[in-house]
Amino acid sequence: MCGIIGIASNKPVSINIINSLKKLEYRGYDSAGLATLNNNKIDEKKCTGRVEELEKILFKSPSEGNLGIGHVRWATHGVPNEINAHPHSTEIVSVVHNGIIENSDELKKKLEIKGLRFKSQTDTEVITLLITEALKKYDPLESVFSTLKQLKGSFALGIIFKDNKNIIIGARRGSPLAVGYAQDEKYLGSDSYALKSMTNKISYLDDGDLCVLTKDNVEFYDEKKKKINKKIYNLSDDKNTSEKGDYKNFMSKEIFEQPITAKNCINEYIDSLKKDINIYNFPIQPNNINKIVLVGCGTAYHSCLVAKYWFEELTNIDVDIDIASEFRYRKLKFNSQNLYIFVSQSGETADTAAALDLCKKNKVKTCSIINSVESTIARNSDWVLPIHAGPEIGVASTKAFLGQMIVLYILCLKLAKSRQDIEDKDYQLFLERLKLIPDAIKKTLKIESSIQSMAKEFIDAKGSMFLGRGYSFPIALEGALKLKELSYLHAEGYPAGEMKHGPLALIEEGLPVIVIAPKDKYYEKTLSNMQEVIARGGKILFISDYKKELINENVRFGVTVPFLDNLLSPILLTIPIQLLAYHVALLKGCDIDKPRNLAKSVTVE
Ligand code: G6P
Repeated sequence: MCGIIGIASNKPVSINIINSLKKLEYRGYDSAGLATLNNNKIDEKKCTGRVEELEKILFKSPSEGNLGIGHVRWATHGVPNEINAHPHSTEIVSVVHNGIIENSDELKKKLEIKGLRFKSQTDTEVITLLITEALKKYDPLESVFSTLKQLKGSFALGIIFKDNKNIIIGARRGSPLAVGYAQDEKYLGSDSYALKSMTNKISYLDDGDLCVLTKDNVEFYDEKKKKINKKIYNLSDDKNTSEKGDYKNFMSKEIFEQPITAKNCINEYIDSLKKDINIYNFPIQPNNINKIVLVGCGTAYHSCLVAKYWFEELTNIDVDIDIASEFRYRKLKFNSQNLYIFVSQSGETADTAAALDLCKKNKVKTCSIINSVESTIARNSDWVLPIHAGPEIGVASTKAFLGQMIVLYILCLKLAKSRQDIEDKDYQLFLERLKLIPDAIKKTLKIESSIQSMAKEFIDAKGSMFLGRGYSFPIALEGALKLKELSYLHAEGYPAGEMKHGPLALIEEGLPVIVIAPKDKYYEKTLSNMQEVIARGGKILFISDYKKELINENVRFGVTVPFLDNLLSPILLTIPIQLLAYHVALLKGCDIDKPRNLAKSVTVE
């Protein structure tokens, strides 16, 4: 889960490498580095920490050269320090790498027996040394091919060579890699987002592909060394959504633009004239769908869990859901009448991509619900339903979660209608209510000042719990995840009814417990569970869509969101838990957009 950039140009490249690395920081930010070719030498500079640190180094000692590679690292093999930072270079070759070389220990031993010495603790250095050895016999292209043959694992590489001043070689196996085109300049990037400020013309490498870039040209090869052609895509312009504007950070911007996110998404899918949903070409006829299987990671998994409740409520289709890292290794009984749905903001999450690949191998129908439509998962699915949220930069997902829920809800309504699991008048009613969501979110965002006060209750807390039932259970999980990610405070999300089976033991005087209780069929039951917490000294923070005089000495704070429909409650109840995590993190002085140890797009297992 690192970021790669490579630029071949007719002018100095280091500034553009730095700018691209800043864009790639969402993939990892433990350390950074670059290597350029200058005066017939590989000029390598690396540092721990952010790209800003690397920029300071370059300020004191500029990197010249019209060709170079850069990297932001999220450590897997070896601690995040300067030696382990990429690139990894010998005198004649320099390599940046994303992913994991699974047989690196074995290869390392073989190289050490030959007398070669390693400087770092990384798996990447094995690649550098293998290519260096191969260059004694072969040209750069053949050296890379022969090295790739020896590697096991999932990775993307960018490589430059001292004696071949004009070329960058890129290779992809498992981890994504894109190529960008401009006049007198060609780019290699671990995603198109990093290249967007330089070009909107992009090609994608497929698994096993290799590319050779010069400033004027790009050649592609498949794993059998056969030259191949690649389609060039024109990227859409998302400039407005990739700038922070007047907001303190991307996360607050992304939380507050959710009315627009919802509106864009609804407008894309609902045809107000025809009073219908514009979703056609189902890969399986709705009436023939045996089961829906929803798969995702992190926040995306939580949107799958919300959707499970919707599909069960509105359709007669059986639903399974799974975390992608579990799904990919389970012994599953694939069924060609099941629809496998993959939910991912980035579309590059390695576990979700591998789960999708497994489905493809088993020849079942796949659908992806994706924010980044140019992504690997989108390109590999039979059917893509974009969420149209625009780039999400904050590592902790907010507006993409909202968009995922809305698309899943729309898909559920369309399926329910097509199968006649719901009546037409209900379908129309649900559509009308859904159109009210953007305004309801706008109103919900006005609770920010109450949430700010609520956030103070967490300053000295040792931990916290989020409780909900039904649709609010996934929101409790998401609330706990957001708080953990952003404020590093321990948080547990639980179905409120499960408390008495263990977690109640955690409740002690003053522990903040967030109870999410919309006025649905679970309301009274959740209140009873809340009483169990109050009796043990828990400090209740109550979030609902029902105005009732609940605030008393036992309930420290309460916030109320608008009520539209029980089915839509998880969408609106998401806003308070996002704001809460945000404000606790702000009070604790945490890095909101880049929480420690995390990355936006997790492209390793
Ligand atoms: C990372 C991010 C999470 C995200 C998860 C899945 O862990 O930090 O915010 O939910 O990946 O990402 P995806 O891009 O597949 O939705």
